[in-house]
Amino acid sequence: MIKRLKIKEFFLSSTPGDRVTVAGWVRTKRQSKNVAFIALNDGSVLQDIQIVVEPDIVSADILSDIHTGAAVKVEGEITESKGQGQEIEIKAYEIEMTGKADPAKYPLQPKKHSLEFLRENSHLRFRSRTFGAISRIRHAMIFGVHKFFNDRGFLNIHTPIITGSDCEGAGEMFRVTTLPPGHSESLNNGNVDYSRDFFGRDTKLTVSGQLEAELAALALSDVYTFGPVFRAENSNTSRHLAEFWMVEPEMAFADLDDDIGLAEEFLKYLIQYSLDNCHRDLEFLEKRLIEEDKNVKESERSPMLLLDKLKFILENDFTRLTYTEAIDILMNSKLNKKRKFDYVIERWGADLQSEHERYLVERHFKSPVVVTDYPREIKAFYMRLNDDEVTVRAMDILFPGIGEIVGGSQREERYEVLQKRMRETDIPDKDLWWYLDTRRFGSAPHSGFGLGFERFLQFLTGMKNIRDVIPFPRTPHNAEF
Ligand code: 4AD
Ligand code: MG
Repeated sequence: MIKRLKIKEFFLSSTPGDRVTVAGWVRTKRQSKNVAFIALNDGSVLQDIQIVVEPDIVSADILSDIHTGAAVKVEGEITESKGQGQEIEIKAYEIEMTGKADPAKYPLQPKKHSLEFLRENSHLRFRSRTFGAISRIRHAMIFGVHKFFNDRGFLNIHTPIITGSDCEGAGEMFRVTTLPPGHSESLNNGNVDYSRDFFGRDTKLTVSGQLEAELAALALSDVYTFGPVFRAENSNTSRHLAEFWMVEPEMAFADLDDDIGLAEEFLKYLIQYSLDNCHRDLEFLEKRLIEEDKNVKESERSPMLLLDKLKFILENDFTRLTYTEAIDILMNSKLNKKRKFDYVIERWGADLQSEHERYLVERHFKSPVVVTDYPREIKAFYMRLNDDEVTVRAMDILFPGIGEIVGGSQREERYEVLQKRMRETDIPDKDLWWYLDTRRFGSAPHSGFGLGFERFLQFLTGMKNIRDVIPFPRTPHNAEF
């Protein structure tokens, strides 16, 4: 057989009369007496290629083994299609079966499967149209992230995955150890003897690369880290993963306004990049969402079509307001007065739940919202203390349908203030001496944020469950595959 062409390339540049080889997995086969039609897909593009097989071309044995899920290589001639739905197709001359799929046993039948069923078959769900589209979009966005920062002179820093520090201070970390199971119980008072552990100290999987990214920014100016992070929070929701990917830029000599500016530019850039590079996949997902919405309660339906929603974000400024203003709006809302929120807001200082975030975005402002200057009590130790001494230079970006998509802040660059904040939150100096050191030597104002990559993909693709935008989701009681 001649050299294989990816189906994407085939659709981009091929002329009737050319001889080509394509390879992929059979989506469907339709057979009549004189001819068989095979829809073949190799994942490079949403569209299948139609293979026309006339009976004398391949042996009846091979043809009868071609079913949904089988892998085949086909050499043939490009011809103009007489059928609907495609302009060109391939008239097969030779078919090689590389892997059969017994139709009685292959889990993915040529019909609609629920997302839940596909999740249970994560080893095969890459072959579904939906997850193929998601995979291509996810890749394009990874590429877009690196392109955005590279074009602006940010250096990509690989921050450690194994760490001794809890950046967010929430105590929701997975332990990393080579001590045998039961080791800690066998010791007096349950105290673990870390001197016998691999690193000679207590180590965990990181929840964020921020602290190390700050060290880099305070020498290299503009940096970003984009890596996996791990959170052992027991939240079984459609927006939480125990393992997810976070994009964290960090800029020296930048304040909170610069930070918000970068985040808004970044989010719009990624959306534009997806419209420019993934249009067909997005259109497909928009249609999928319309179908899905037919079966859900009106209150859970998407208020806008997917592409309209994306364009809406591009065309509108994000609304900026302080936490104090947000609390005023929420306390005066009918929902709060009638106690319709699950968490009724009783006072300034309350943490915003996702129902409150979505109220602000979807009902009050009808635009993405940036909430700034949260109470210090509900935010992490590293955020810069405002002059009022009760709020910090924090910002959260809230998106429709999702709630919080970005969390960021201006960092506390003043040594004494930072040290005091650490002591108040029970972080011993000795744990973060290196972090404190950057404030002792050449400190500078600096700011950064973290974008939850899967939350963003959820927004972009309209997938309602975060488990459907990452190949192998990790959630409580779920680490199959
Ligand atoms: O708000 P978070 O906790 O911020 C940080 O970790 C900072 N260190 C970031 C920084 O300033 N460099 O997390 C950032 C984002 C959230 O806004 C959310 O989008 C996402 O990460 N996120 C999750 N995504 C999926 N599953 C979870 N369990 C998530 N927790 C947070
Ligand atoms: Mg947050």
